[in-house]
Amino acid sequence: MKKKTDFLVIGSGIAGLYFALKAADYGKVTIITKTTIDESNTKYAQGGIASVMYGPDDFDKHIEDTLRAGDGLNDVEVVKMVITQGPGRIKDLINLGVEFDKNEDGTFDLGREGGHSYNRILHHKDRTGQEIEEKLIQTVRNHPNIEILEYHFALDLITQHHLGYPVYYCQDNIVCFGAYVQDTRTGEIKTILSKITYLATGGIGNIYQTTTNPSIATGDGIAMAYRAKAKIIHMEFVQFHPTALYNPGERPAFLITEALRGFGAKLRNTKGELFMEKYHPLKELAPRDIVARAIDNEMKKHGDDYVYLDATHIPGVELKRHFPNIYKKCLSIGIDMSTDLIPVVPAAHYSCGGVRVDMTGKTSIENLYAGGEVAATGLHGANRLASNSLLEALVFAYNSVEASKNLIKTIDFQDAIPDWNDEGTTLLEEMVLISQEFKELQQIMTNYVGIVRSNLRLHRALKRLEILYQETEEIYDRSIINQGICELRNAINVGYLITKMALRRKESRGLHFNVDYPYKLKENRFLS
Ligand code: FAD
Ligand code: SIN
Repeated sequence: MKKKTDFLVIGSGIAGLYFALKAADYGKVTIITKTTIDESNTKYAQGGIASVMYGPDDFDKHIEDTLRAGDGLNDVEVVKMVITQGPGRIKDLINLGVEFDKNEDGTFDLGREGGHSYNRILHHKDRTGQEIEEKLIQTVRNHPNIEILEYHFALDLITQHHLGYPVYYCQDNIVCFGAYVQDTRTGEIKTILSKITYLATGGIGNIYQTTTNPSIATGDGIAMAYRAKAKIIHMEFVQFHPTALYNPGERPAFLITEALRGFGAKLRNTKGELFMEKYHPLKELAPRDIVARAIDNEMKKHGDDYVYLDATHIPGVELKRHFPNIYKKCLSIGIDMSTDLIPVVPAAHYSCGGVRVDMTGKTSIENLYAGGEVAATGLHGANRLASNSLLEALVFAYNSVEASKNLIKTIDFQDAIPDWNDEGTTLLEEMVLISQEFKELQQIMTNYVGIVRSNLRLHRALKRLEILYQETEEIYDRSIINQGICELRNAINVGYLITKMALRRKESRGLHFNVDYPYKLKENRFLS
């Protein structure tokens, strides 16, 4: 079945929904999303959105903090653009009904997180993402120009390759014509032709054993873009959040927001000792890569599975008021955070790398834009500053609409695209193979491509990933397509890209730490 739309939006987190709302002023928008519309990393965001609202804070300080965290790999022009456009996008959210917490005098109650030199995080209690997602969904649902297709899984981007042109023929001028999409409830595969395609598929957390990301985060967008020959960069910079709740068996790992450390909570090892002063003068509020490595080191040194977050010196009434969601969650597993220490562990959280885009969100493929976590914009460099990603998603989505709104008048649909070809495939009977291989992938990535890396471990990972890749391709080629096999294939693809790029970087920088090169090279380039 063929379907046509001006803007095809793949993903319904903050990037996809905000792009859709803005684009709907200029044409027909179709949003596809692989499960329900609300399920996304966005929904779980806790701490909030960083933006300069009042003095004594100013843009220069936010820019400086972002550059310091990014460890020399940020694109300075992009950093300036995102931070100065931030307040405008925040106003947009407020106009859409998003409520940020305020003080009694009506000013915003701005929180603090690691790496920030000022309180500048707008938040809604400790569930900012849910508040934003809900308000965006309400508005999108009521828009006559927006169609929402839930349980629609993007299989692949459509390019000239699907017209039969060999890869080498169009390498420098690849054009995106839409995507092949499966309705996962019926199995039907649709050919959705679009003038502009917006890739907003979010993160990759599930390629690791412990992650804060919900199960939708399997790196599909990066893998699809890679297969379509888009430029992918900086995949070695995987951000581990220092403090996920240690609760074995729970997936995703429940996040304990950095804002709690911003509120005064301290880290202790299992002997009860404070340890962050040994690692960085900013202690608990040092940039995330430093805190995560410090915790990893303490755990290894003492042979522990976790360290503690201590909020017991903060009055219980304040904890309940500012962190009601976390308070309730901890209580549900027998931890009263006003009197008990909270066991925490680092967890895969955010991908700084992804599909390379320019200042307008355009990828290296014509008519394909990308935004949110799937994109590598240059804002984060080698390590994202806390709460900069929701902001980045808004600014880039807005700019992508501005860049593409007139372009759609010049683009024709590519009617010659054939429908999906599944000749010679049969029903995959051994679904258990898929879940086993996914677990193996998570083990490989966690053991060999985690917080601390070495050449030996990275090479070992590559060898094992190669075997997984061969086995999975073999199953993929002969099976009737389904979401499980595609996600596995995408996740292996992403694991491979992370490992390859980690091996290529002969230094330690930001989130990438290799014991064989425990130093930084002098280069200061955005492109890897
Ligand atoms: P997402 O919100 O992840 O949305 C991706 C969408 O794509 C989903 O709808 C998914 O179903 C869909 N999708 C994926 N693959 C396919 C496919 N193949 N076909 C169809 N649909 C597909 N950042 C901050 O700035 N501040 C915070 O306080 C903060 N807290 C966080 C807390 C947690 C627990 C987590 C996990 C992240 C947090 N982050 C925070 C990071 C931030 O939430 C994310 O980076 C951001 O929400 C990503 O938005 P997105 O729109 O790019 O992707
Ligand atoms: C948090 O609330 O600690 C997460 C913030 C982020 O990932 O930016």
